[in-house]
Amino acid sequence: MGKAKSPELTTRKTMLAVLGGQTITPAPIWLMRQAGRYLPEYRQLRTQAKNFLDFCFRPELAVEATLQPIRRYGLDAAILFSDILTVPWALGQNVQFLEGEGPKLQPILSSDDLQKLDVPGVTKRLSPVYQTVSGVAAALPPETTLIGFAGAPWTVAAYMVEGTGSRDFLIAKTFGMAEPRSFDRLLDILVTSTVEHLSAQIAAGADVVQLFDSWAGVLAEEQFRRWVIAPTKAIVAGVRARHPATPVIGFPRCAGGLLPLYARETGVTAVGLDTQVPLEWANDILPAGLPIQGNLDPVALIVGGQVLRDAVRVILDQAKGRPLIFNLGHGVPMTTPPEHVAELVQLVREG
Ligand code: CP3
Repeated sequence: MGKAKSPELTTRKTMLAVLGGQTITPAPIWLMRQAGRYLPEYRQLRTQAKNFLDFCFRPELAVEATLQPIRRYGLDAAILFSDILTVPWALGQNVQFLEGEGPKLQPILSSDDLQKLDVPGVTKRLSPVYQTVSGVAAALPPETTLIGFAGAPWTVAAYMVEGTGSRDFLIAKTFGMAEPRSFDRLLDILVTSTVEHLSAQIAAGADVVQLFDSWAGVLAEEQFRRWVIAPTKAIVAGVRARHPATPVIGFPRCAGGLLPLYARETGVTAVGLDTQVPLEWANDILPAGLPIQGNLDPVALIVGGQVLRDAVRVILDQAKGRPLIFNLGHGVPMTTPPEHVAELVQLVREG
C-alpha cells in the first residue's frame, strides 16, 4: 500500500481540494439550480420532453442540461440534472409536475400508505439517473467536479405528506408530531432509499454528494434534532461506510441558530449556508477548518453590476481563512439575466 496522497497531488478538481480542507484562491464556484429556465438553451431542450419527470429520466436530455451551464460559464462543478422528488416517485408515490404549478404528490396520510412504498425497487427505477451521471462523468473536463444529490429525509417527507409545496409545511409537521411512529417509519424509509440512491450516483461517477434540506428552517429544536440531524447523520454514516472518500455537503436551509448543532452532529464534510447566515458569525461558531459553501443573495445576481460586485466582496472578505466553495444562498432565480452569471464567475475568479 502506498502512502495516502494529499488532494493537490491526486486531483485537479479545486472543489475536492477545498472539501479536503484546503483554502484555495480563487475559490471554486458552482451555483444551485445552475441548469434551468433562466437559460434559453435549457428552455429549448425542455420542449423535447413531455413533462419535467420525463426530462429527468431521459439521460440524453439530462446529460445535456447538466453540461449547458458548464459549457457556457466554465464553472468548477456540474450538478446532476434531476430532482429531489424522483425518490418518492421511485418509491411508488404518484408524483407529477404540473406546468407553472410545481410538484403535486398523492399525499401519504396513513401507515397503510407507507406499507405500499417499494423500498427495494428504488435504485432500479432510478437507473436512468445513474446513466445520466456516467454520461456526464465521461463528458466533463478533468478539472470539473461532478456533484450528485438527494433531498434530505425531512424535506422529502414534507412534500410526500403535504402533497405540494407550502410556506410552513403545517400538514407535514402536524402529521409528524401527532403520528410520530408513522413519521419515523417514513424517515427510515427515506434514509435507506437515500443511502442507496447516493451510493449508486457515486458508483456511476459522482465525486461529491449534496443533501438538500430546503425546509429545515421551519422546525423547532426538538423536531430539528429528530427529523433533520438524526436522519442526516444516518445517511452520512451509510454513504461513508460504502464510499469513505466521497465528501458529503449538507445544506440545511434557514437552520439559523441550529446550524452549529447541524455542523457538529451530522458528520457532513461541509455545510451549505443560506443567504441569511452572517459569514462572520458562521466563521466564529463553526468547527475550525470545516469547509463552507455559499451564500450570495440570488437577488444580487438578478440585479448585477455594483450590487453584485459589493455582495461578492463581502463574502470573499468574510470567509477569509476558511475553505470556501462559492455559491448562492439558494437556487438561481428564473429571472436571472444569463450574462450576470458570467459576471459573477469572473468576479470570483479575480478574487
Ligand atoms: O441545481 C441544479 O441545477 C440541478 C437540478 C435540480 C433541480 N431541482 C431541477 C429543477 C436540483 C438540485 C433540484 C433540487 C430541488 N427540487 C429542491 C431543493 C433545492 C431548493 O430549491 O430548495 C427542491 C425543494 C425541489 C422540488 C422542486 N422541483 C420544486 C418545488 C419545483 C417547482 C418549482 C420550480 O422552480 O418550478 C421543482 C421543479 C424543478 N426542479 C425545475 C428544475 C430545473 C423547474 C421545472 C421545469 O424546468 O419545468
